[in-house]
Order: sequence, then C-alpha cells, then structure tokens
Amino acid sequence: MNNIENDIENDIENKIKELNKKFENKTTQEILEYILEQYKNKVGFSSSLGAEDQVLTHMILNIDKNANIFTLDTGRLPDETYALMDETNLKYDTKLNVFFPQGKNVEDLYKIQGINGFYESIEKRKACCFVRKIEPLQRALKCIDIWITGLRASQSITRENLNIVEYDKLNKIIKVNPLLFWSEHNVWKFIKENKIPYNKLHDKGFPSLGCAPCTRAIKDGEDLRSGRWWWENPEHKECGLHIK
Ligand code: ADX
Ligand code: SF4
Repeated sequence: MNNIENDIENDIENKIKELNKKFENKTTQEILEYILEQYKNKVGFSSSLGAEDQVLTHMILNIDKNANIFTLDTGRLPDETYALMDETNLKYDTKLNVFFPQGKNVEDLYKIQGINGFYESIEKRKACCFVRKIEPLQRALKCIDIWITGLRASQSITRENLNIVEYDKLNKIIKVNPLLFWSEHNVWKFIKENKIPYNKLHDKGFPSLGCAPCTRAIKDGEDLRSGRWWWENPEHKECGLHIK
C-alpha cells in the first residue's frame, strides 16, 4: 500500500469510528433513515430474502421506494426463495435487482469440479461460492459506496464481534449492519406484526437459508447456521461474502 492509499484508508477508518459513535443509541429505523438520506443513490442493500433481510426490505422501501435492493441469484436457490422474490416484488410494487453468475464462469467451474463438487472439499465449495456469489457481489458493489447487510451478531461465532459500521477491506466499501443487535425473536416479532412475506422454508426448520444443495433443516437447540454447509466446521461457515 502506498502513502496515498494509506491516508485514504485512515480517513475511512475515522469516518467509520464517527458513524459508529453516531449510531450508538440509534434505532434501526433511524440508522436507515440517516444512511439512505445521506448517501442516496450510493447505497445498496444486499438481500438473500432471509428473515432478517425481509425486515430490512420492509423498512427500507418504506423510507425510500426506489432504494437499491439487490439479490445474488446463484442459480441454485430453493424454489421457495424464488416464490418469495415474486411475492416481495408484488407486495412492495418493486423489482429487486438481481445479479446472476457469469455463464462462462459457471461452465468452467462445471468442467473442473462437476455440478456438485462443493461437497468434496472446502476449496471446491469456496470455488463455487466465488463463481456464484462473490463475483456477482463484486459487480453489485461497484456502483455503490455503502453496503447494507442483514448480518446479526448472534448468528454465529464468526459474527459476534462485528460493529454496526465496518470497513470491508477486501471490497473497499463501508458496510452497515443495522440489525446487528437484534435477536431472532425480535426479527420474527417484527415480521408477524407487520405481516411481512417470508420464506416458507423457515416454517420447516430452516432458520438460515442459502443455496438448496448447501442448506438443510436443523433440530431444536442446534446452532442457527448449523444447517448451512453442514458437513463443514463452524469456523469455515462463511462463503466469502462477509470476510473482515
Ligand atoms: S452467507 O454469507 O452465509 O450466505 P447469510 O445467509 O447469513 O450469509 O446472510 C447474511 C447477509 O449476507 C444477508 O443479510 C445479506 O445481506 C447478505 N446475503 C447473503 N446471501 C445473499 C444473496 N444471495 N444475495 C444478496 N445478499 C446476500
Ligand atoms: Fe455453490 Fe453451495 Fe456456495 Fe451456493 S452455497 S454458491 S451451491 S457452494
């Protein structure tokens, strides 16, 4: 890193400290209002259509009907997620932006590791996540300065030390996690009270949802994300979207 890049990074770190201080005692609604107002068309919210993201979609579209909400369609999502995409577009009279993986990359991946190679090793799983999620995410992030996510601290050991505002050094973007301190109970209370559409798989024991072949239902008492990449250890359970 040269001196100029160093200075820019220091400025960003200071900005992040300032924003975290500002948001210390603010509600999620207040944080969203501030971010959407201040950064207008430079903000994007990534939605997986999971329960947390449906809460944020509801709040965000109530603040700004034209906000940029995008989803990464890996091509391997469960039918229920596609049904929810439709239902959400219909209910909020919107059309979520969709980013697909690049055809050539998927074809090459298939040639190297077959269609379900991700079960064979962490490297192969990460290669699939890269082609189907990370590369499309990188394209989605190119046109924004602030990235809103639905991450919650209590979702996993990999998320418990996050702040509301983080700097994603890899993608060089400011990330805002307005639901960071919500409990799972609060998410569902909000969904029910506001009649927000949600993925029907949540009623079938899937608290955390991703691609169909890499997600399964969990039993009572199991870790919320234990159904994701269930054949791997908890420390590996990030697809690369959220690396500090
Ligand atoms: S993941 O990294 O394991 O897939 P998780 O499903 O917990 O993430 O979701 C955490 C946050 O990552 C979501 O709130 C959302 O902001 C973002 N995210 C995850 N998957 C997608 C997706 N397919 N499209 C858009 N955003 C996503
Ligand atoms: Fe591929 Fe599974 Fe990652 Fe989806 S979650 S991109 S199918 S490895």
